[in-house]
Amino acid sequence: MARRIPWIIKYRPKRIDDVEDQDKAKAQFVAWLKQWLSGKTPSKKAALLYGPAGCGKTSLVEAAAHEYGLEIVEMNASDFRRRSDIERIAGVAAVQRSLFARGKIILLDEVDGISGRADQGAVDAILRLIEISRYPVVMTANDPWSQSLKPIRDASLLIPFNRLTERHVLNVLKKICAAERLECEEEALRIIARRSEGDLRSAINDLQAIGEGYGRVTRALVQQLVTYRNREYAPWDALRNMFNAKYIFQAKMALSQANLDYDQVLLWVNEHIPTYYKDPEEIWRAYEALSRADVYMGRIRKTGSWEFLSYAFEMAGPGVAFARKQYKYRWAKFTMPERIKLLAKYKKQRETREGIAMALSKRLATSRRTVKREVLPYLRVIFRNAKNPEYAARIALAYGFTEEMIRFLAGEDKAREVLAYYRKYARK
Ligand SMILES: Nc1ncnc2c1ncn2[C@@H]1O[C@H](COP(=O)(O)OP(=O)(O)OP(=O)(O)O)[C@@H](O)[C@H]1O
Ligand SMILES: [Mg+2]
Repeated sequence: MARRIPWIIKYRPKRIDDVEDQDKAKAQFVAWLKQWLSGKTPSKKAALLYGPAGCGKTSLVEAAAHEYGLEIVEMNASDFRRRSDIERIAGVAAVQRSLFARGKIILLDEVDGISGRADQGAVDAILRLIEISRYPVVMTANDPWSQSLKPIRDASLLIPFNRLTERHVLNVLKKICAAERLECEEEALRIIARRSEGDLRSAINDLQAIGEGYGRVTRALVQQLVTYRNREYAPWDALRNMFNAKYIFQAKMALSQANLDYDQVLLWVNEHIPTYYKDPEEIWRAYEALSRADVYMGRIRKTGSWEFLSYAFEMAGPGVAFARKQYKYRWAKFTMPERIKLLAKYKKQRETREGIAMALSKRLATSRRTVKREVLPYLRVIFRNAKNPEYAARIALAYGFTEEMIRFLAGEDKAREVLAYYRKYARK
C-alpha cells in the first residue's frame, strides 16, 4: 500500500476537460471513440497515442473511459510475450457485446516496451488482437517509431501528444495548490515547472514533496529540496534523520523517505523512542505524540479517511522529534523492532502449519480446516512425546513433510531425533 495518496493519483483528470492542453489529441481521440460508441467500427480499430512522458496520454484514456462509462481492460504489453496470455486476452476482447454489459476499452500501455527483434511474437499477437477485438484497442508509447512497431503503426490511428509547455504545467500546479490550500509562491512553482521539462508527473511529485514536507512552497524551499526528490532511505537512516532533524519539515520528510509502509514506520518509531531519548520527560512527550499518530491511524483504518494520514505523520515525525528539550545531535543504534521480528517468525510458523494441512488434506480427502482442528493436535502429540521417533519419521516420509514441518510438529529438541531417522530413510 502507498504510504500516502500520491497527488498524481489524487489529481488525475476525471473528465476530458480536466486534461490540460492536448486539444488536437483530445478531438481526434474522442471522435474515434464516438464512432465505436455509436455502434460503427472505425476503419482503424486501434489508436496509438504517443508523446513524451507525463503529458496526459494515459490520463486522457482514463478520463474518457470515466466520462463515457467504459471499463478499461488494461494489459501490460509484456504479457504478450506468452502464448497462453495472448489466448486469454484475445478471449476477453473477442467476447460478444451483450445488451447489459458495460463497454470496454482495451488499453495496452507503453507498447514501445516491446520493440526489438525478440518480441516479434508480441507484435503479431497485438495485430491479431486488433483484428478480432470487438472493443476499441488503445495503445500508448513514448517513441512509436522503431522499425518493429511499423505493422502496429499501420494498423492504428496515430494520435500525437505535445510536450506540455511551462505555462500548462504551471496551470495544473496552481490548481493543485488551490485545492490543497497550499501557500505557494508563483516563482517557486515556475522553478518546478521549468525543471520538469513538460513532465507533469514529476512536477506534481516535486510539489507534493515540498508541500507536504513544509506546508507551503517557497522559492528557497524549492531550490533546497528538489534535490531530495525520489530519495529513499533504509529504515535506520530514516530514523536517524528523523530524530536528529533540526526543522519540522526535515523530520516529516525523513519519515516519508523510509522505505517502509506506514504501519511499520510507526512500529519503528515506537521501538526506538527509548533508544534515542533517555530523559523520562522527553520519552513521555515523544510517546504522547506517537499515541496521537496512532489515534489518527485508527480513524483511517475505521473510516478510510486517508486525509488524516498527513496528521499521523506530522505527529509520528516532527511530534516525536521535537519532544526533546534541546537540540544536540545524538547517536543511537536503530535496529529492527522486536515486534516485526516476532511477526516474521509467526508468519513462518503459520505457513508451515498451512503446508502440513495442505499435504494432509489431500491424502485424507478432508478440508484443511478439519485437518488443523482434528488431526494436527494428535500429530503434535505423536511427534513430541513418542517414545519412538522412528515412527514419527516414517509418518513424515509417508506424507512428504519437509524438515521445517517436522521441526514445527516435534519442537526443536525432539526434532533432532526424528530428523536423524528421517534423513536416514530419505536417503534410501
Ligand atoms: N495533460 C494533463 N492534464 C492534467 N494532468 C496531467 C496531464 N498530463 C499528466 N498529468 C498528470 O500527471 C500524471 C501522469 O500523467 P499520464 O499518466 O497521463 O502520463 P503519460 O503521458 O501517460 O506518461 P507516460 O508516457 O510516462 O506513461 C497524471 O496522473 C496526471 O496527474
Ligand atoms: Mg502513461
